[in-house]
Amino acid sequence: MSTDATAHVATTRVWDLVVRAGHWCVAGLMALAWFTGGMSGELHEWLGLLPLVLVMLRLAWGFVGPRHARFRQFLHGPRATWAYARDVWGHRAPRHVGHNPLGGWMVVALLVGVGCTALTGWLYTTDWLWGYAWLDQLHATLAWGTLGLVVLHVAGVLHSSLAHRENLVAAMWHGRKRVAQPPDVD
Ligand code: HEM
Ligand code: HEM
Repeated sequence: MSTDATAHVATTRVWDLVVRAGHWCVAGLMALAWFTGGMSGELHEWLGLLPLVLVMLRLAWGFVGPRHARFRQFLHGPRATWAYARDVWGHRAPRHVGHNPLGGWMVVALLVGVGCTALTGWLYTTDWLWGYAWLDQLHATLAWGTLGLVVLHVAGVLHSSLAHRENLVAAMWHGRKRVAQPPDVD
């Protein structure tokens, strides 16, 4: 734990370097992959394959990484997730130091979306499945569906930031957040 010298707010490291660097690299590479999607060629294929590697690393990190990177820390059952969604609706959701229950499932959806988009893109370039229109269509649908998830993701981040008066985007950059104080949840 440390203290922010200007505001005298006690903070704690929540997001480790693997989570932070992985996040902004995936976000940047996905943006470039979307922009180059219209041009067929190696540039798009390499830009798309790197996020797949990062997603696989993140999946492994979810089992062996530090506390707040672990899936078991932030994935909750349907009952708890539904209860949290109702609290958000009623403007009484508690602050979570790690991912909140809805955010936790969004993390899974984003990892699956990015992974499946890249996987279908790669399959389309193999001798086995090259030229199948349905696969091309599936790749495009997954790419745009994932973009839809990202829009929801950013909306959720902004909503939580405003509700709990903390800059979550900055926290994903430097890794530190205000320490938990009742009624916060770790
Ligand atoms: C292609 C675009 C994006 C993807 C695929 C993506 C994916 C993810 C994933 C997988 C996580 C979980 C981090 C982890 O535990 O490893 C996450 C968290 C986060 N992302 Fe993104 N993200 C994207 C864009 C953005 C953008 C543009 C912003 C900023 C406006 C943003 C802000 C955040 C923040 C603040 C968190 C932490 C949420 C929390 O405090 O619980 N993301 N994102
Ligand atoms: C995860 C990141 C990726 C994103 C966001 C993405 C996105 C897109 C988009 C938006 C298109 C245009 C689809 C359309 O409107 O017809 C496209 C096409 C394409 N993508 Fe990706 N892609 C990704 C990864 C990959 C990878 C890893 C490969 C191959 C190794 C790949 C191969 C292709 C090919 C060959 C096309 C052109 C298909 C055609 O000729 O119609 N993509 N991609």
